[in-house]
Amino acid sequence: MFLAKHGAPLISTEWATSVQNSGTKNEEDRGAFKTPTRRDVARTAPYMHDGSLKTLMEVIDYYDKGGTPNPHLSSDMRPLQLTEQEKADLVEFMKSLSGEMPAFEEPKLPN
Ligand code: HEM
Repeated sequence: MFLAKHGAPLISTEWATSVQNSGTKNEEDRGAFKTPTRRDVARTAPYMHDGSLKTLMEVIDYYDKGGTPNPHLSSDMRPLQLTEQEKADLVEFMKSLSGEMPAFEEPKLPN
């Protein structure tokens, strides 16, 4: 499980649960969240652990400004200064991660 701190807007009860969410119970993991899959992400709005971001463009804007400043924000998080074209491209890329599951045939087990 990959944990990351990107400074999602946390409210007081979430500060408590985010330590549990990290699964480690270590104080230094407060504010860390499991990185969710991007598979089918265009179909799974709203986004983030608290559903605070309604669209993929809102997610991009959120990253573009470097997350929400808070004491647990990773120092690796910083404003990206993406152009409008880059933001639109990232949204289109994430849309491309949705699709039909490949056909699956149950294998025949040997007797
Ligand atoms: C511009 C680059 C990035 C894009 C486009 C992106 C996209 C997304 C999206 C769409 C979500 C919401 C997923 C959902 O709620 O189902 C998300 C959440 C998340 N991402 Fe990113 N991501 C980026 C960079 C990163 C990086 C660099 C990290 C870690 C080092 C990261 C870690 C996470 C984590 C931990 C969450 C869950 C946050 C929460 O539950 O509040 N992301 N990201």
